Amino acid sequence: MSKNRVSRRQFLSYTLMGTGGFMASAMLMPMVRFAVDPVLQKNEGGSFIPTSQKVDELTSEPVRVDYTIKDRKDGWYESDESNTAWVYKDGDTVIALSPVCKHLGCTVNWGGDKEHPEQFFCPCHQGRYMKNGDNVKGTPPIGPLDEYEVKVENGLVYLGTTKANTLV
Ligand code: FES
Repeated sequence: MSKNRVSRRQFLSYTLMGTGGFMASAMLMPMVRFAVDPVLQKNEGGSFIPTSQKVDELTSEPVRVDYTIKDRKDGWYESDESNTAWVYKDGDTVIALSPVCKHLGCTVNWGGDKEHPEQFFCPCHQGRYMKNGDNVKGTPPIGPLDEYEVKVENGLVYLGTTKANTLV
């Protein structure tokens, strides 16, 4: 009999240790990833996404710009995410506002209320905002629309993350 031969007891304990280790790592990996993810998302948040909106075609009238963030990570899932912004020019500055209502998160439209054609309108509870995103007092929203980080490259509008409105 060889000295290196593994006893039944040793074999069993190695096998159990291996299986236990594998199961522990399987449970720990998502936790580690969960803990690290906010850091990763922060890095991703710094990048700008190109849209098909040409800066030359913008006027002082807000237009809806739809764009897609490829392979967006949401928890453990990765998928393309569709987004929208209301974009216009104020002089030479390109302004992009989030369409997410500050009341309960519905989507606002430009000129959606016939009586206030020069304002953003939220159809859910008749919330209204001025063109710079300022919420009209006396309507449900409790704050101004968020603003996108904007960059212009090769004549196109690029959008970054949203930030608190700086125009109001
Ligand atoms: S969700 Fe927009 S007004 Fe209520």
